[in-house]
Amino acid sequence: MLTTEENELVTRTGPGTPMGEVMRRYWMPAALSSELPEPDCPPVRVKLLGENLVAFRDTSGKIGLVNEFCAHRRASLFLGRNEEGGLRCVYHGWKYDVRGNCLDTPTEPAESSLKDKIHLKAYLTLEMGGLIWAYMGPQEKTPPAPKFEFTQVAESHRYMTKTWEECNWLQGLEGAIDSQHASFLHRALTSDKTRSRFGQSASGYRARSLTPSHEVEATNYGLLFASVRPLGEEGDYVRVYHFVMPFYSLRAAQMGIGGEVKRPLVAGHMWVPMDNENCMVYDWIYSFGETPVDAKWRDEFEWGSGRGPEDRTADFRKTRNKTNNWMIDRKAQKTLGYSGIEGINTQDHAIQESMGPIVDRSHEHLGASDKAIIATRRMLLEAARSIGQGADPPGSGPEYYNLRAIDKVLPAGAHWQQELESEIYGAPKYA
Ligand code: FES
Ligand SMILES: [Fe+2]
Repeated sequence: MLTTEENELVTRTGPGTPMGEVMRRYWMPAALSSELPEPDCPPVRVKLLGENLVAFRDTSGKIGLVNEFCAHRRASLFLGRNEEGGLRCVYHGWKYDVRGNCLDTPTEPAESSLKDKIHLKAYLTLEMGGLIWAYMGPQEKTPPAPKFEFTQVAESHRYMTKTWEECNWLQGLEGAIDSQHASFLHRALTSDKTRSRFGQSASGYRARSLTPSHEVEATNYGLLFASVRPLGEEGDYVRVYHFVMPFYSLRAAQMGIGGEVKRPLVAGHMWVPMDNENCMVYDWIYSFGETPVDAKWRDEFEWGSGRGPEDRTADFRKTRNKTNNWMIDRKAQKTLGYSGIEGINTQDHAIQESMGPIVDRSHEHLGASDKAIIATRRMLLEAARSIGQGADPPGSGPEYYNLRAIDKVLPAGAHWQQELESEIYGAPKYA
């Protein structure tokens, strides 16, 4: 559990909050590049850390991320015209460039210099790995570009979607850190090999030992987790995943959902706070080998997430959501899958949203299986407490650049840290 004060400290990310200050020290995904497909295309709304913003791609292709509301009389620039090097408010025609400078105030007298005094709040952006990233912190602390391996591989080797989750970002992140829930929440109740979106059967190495030992190590970027499953003479199945500060998770996917397939795949998520009660979840897979992400892997990803195009609205909300109880099917809950909810990631969202917008962690009762959750909270709280004293939070430099999440069968009793070190830290260091 956390005290009420700790819970408040770790979950709130609005302007001026300690956790908000921590978040403002990292590049954060603001939108998919595909949301702004070409110069002068329509702007999109972006909500980040409690701030209402709009993103637009100007005539020369540069990205702007500015306050949503026009400096004149606060009309939304989401309705704006994106034309000739700037975004023009449709109320009275004031126009802004990607840095938030006011270029034109056509309703003012010709000799007016009013526009020179007008400036919209604008944030630094960069485009990398199919994403538009924003930096909202102090300029002198601008971190190096977010060169996770998934942002550096070719576009053909990556697949990514995003989905709005209606709860505090930490509830989502804690779902990824808690690897124990999969054998309950996501359990299939039928061995029918025709795939049901209600659950996944644990098969392959993960099914053969349901009581893995879990290890957690603090690192300079966040935390490294490993589950070790003894398989008798065959060896130990070791699965490594990472928590990278402040809201990234990287998960080994070489062995496939349940099979023993060798493939150069890593999966992951990012829980980006929109405000205290909503976050945008970016889910991705990438291939670090020769093989691109093909239709089969994409299909598995979409199927697993339960978030194909038909499961999402135009503004990235879920069609199965809390207003319809995630369309829980009580018959399926008895026959097909443990939760009765379709889609693995939708099951996660349902559970996390069911706790309420911000769960009250002072009422929890944690057990031995919550070791990873406890370590994660400790690291986040420490960052929030020390940011005011000028400390740089973990992972705000390039510490995570060469990370990869790996799963592998090792000789029984092998020292996995040694055996896997060159692979866990084996991503090329992209210059
Ligand atoms: S409110 Fe935007 S120009 Fe008047
Ligand atoms: Fe899950």
